[in-house]
Amino acid sequence: MSDLLERLRAGLPPEALITDPDVTASYAHDMAGFCEAGTPAVVVLPRTVEQVQHVMRTATALRVPVVPQGARTGLSGAANASDGCIVLSLVKMDRILEISPVDRIAVVEPGVVNAVLSRAVNEHGLYYPPDPSSWETCTIGGNIGTASGGLCCVKYGVTAEYVLGLDVVLADGRLLTTGRRTAKGVAGYDLTRLFVGSEGSLGIVVKAVLALRPQPPRQLVLAAEFPTATAACDAVCRIMERGHTPSLLELMDRTTVRAVNALASMGLPETTEALLLCAFDTPDPLADLAAVGELCTAAGATEVVPADNPAESELLLQARRMSLTALETVKSATMIDDVCVPRSRLGAMLAGTAAIAEEYDLTIGVCAHAGDGNTHPVVCFDHHDPDESRRARESFDAIMALGLELGGTITGEHGVGVLKKEWLARELGETGIELQRGIKAAFDPLGLLNPGKLF
Ligand code: LAC
Ligand code: ZN
Repeated sequence: MSDLLERLRAGLPPEALITDPDVTASYAHDMAGFCEAGTPAVVVLPRTVEQVQHVMRTATALRVPVVPQGARTGLSGAANASDGCIVLSLVKMDRILEISPVDRIAVVEPGVVNAVLSRAVNEHGLYYPPDPSSWETCTIGGNIGTASGGLCCVKYGVTAEYVLGLDVVLADGRLLTTGRRTAKGVAGYDLTRLFVGSEGSLGIVVKAVLALRPQPPRQLVLAAEFPTATAACDAVCRIMERGHTPSLLELMDRTTVRAVNALASMGLPETTEALLLCAFDTPDPLADLAAVGELCTAAGATEVVPADNPAESELLLQARRMSLTALETVKSATMIDDVCVPRSRLGAMLAGTAAIAEEYDLTIGVCAHAGDGNTHPVVCFDHHDPDESRRARESFDAIMALGLELGGTITGEHGVGVLKKEWLARELGETGIELQRGIKAAFDPLGLLNPGKLF
């Protein structure tokens, strides 16, 4: 231990090292519940690439595991510490190095907060679309590590589609540059894409070249109330089938709506079984909203209310973004699923989730990126009650089984981490897992990078 600290100190300024156990303990977890977490030996907060290289060389020399972290807003335990590890927090590497309107790229360090980057590029008339609900606090490095999504993905796609190039410090301290800053590029295997969603298991991202889009007009949101979740899903299918391009298409069920109202008095309609939010950032959003409103009514909506202005629209989005936080107050604990199914199967997924809630006698609130078929069934339970806790775990698993049965994936955007480890093999199959392990070994032969995650 003292050898580790001594070696780390040799290449780091004193303020980059935290050893006080009370403080290091606060770096043990991300935001996922019910995931094992160990006690870090030390937390390191580097400011330069050289410092990260020094940490990795030291870790390799002494065979100490390293757990990279951003803002720890993750929801699968992927950033949880392991016993005796170095927590490598990248939050101090938070500079935006370049914004180029001609090349339509930004070059950033990993600790840049998503919302900070978004606002900075807006000033150049540009747009960085990926927008997880935690966008005000989560970091770009964390977004890359977990391949995160968000509300805008139904039109603009997920983080992976915006990562053009990376600088990565490898397990042994070498610096790898992958990808490009050009509009195109197909030289060799796409290692850049491989790092996206690798949950810190292959290397430490220290710089990213990100693609930007021209800033679209401000979006307007429509809220539609449905008597059943099935009718809301039917509306989603009609909207997509007709070729509309909503900039978001989100669903909140009755439990979620009530929880949000209870938390923040948002005045959302509580009698509806499913509230659909649909937005357009097109040149004529009112015309698009009117067309979608008709489709919602045809699918059985009882109430269709377009927001009057961008401010009202933003309020509805805030309500949606706080869904998880609100659902966390329903009972003492939650487990959050992230199953993504082909959107044509969304209705079956929600009906199946309701059946699971009934079978296990639990409250399961659902918010969903409906346009992506990405659902977040949130199992709410009392963690002091052993029987309810067991049922919660079983229903959480049953929801993933249902997702796979419907041709979906266990995780659309939150990642595997610790929480869904047992499920990865079921989704990928034996050959898939074998190859993934081989890739891990090629990058990290000593198994030092974020051990115990994914597999
Ligand atoms: C959301 C997070 C939980 O969709 O992914 O709000
Ligand atoms: Zn989500």
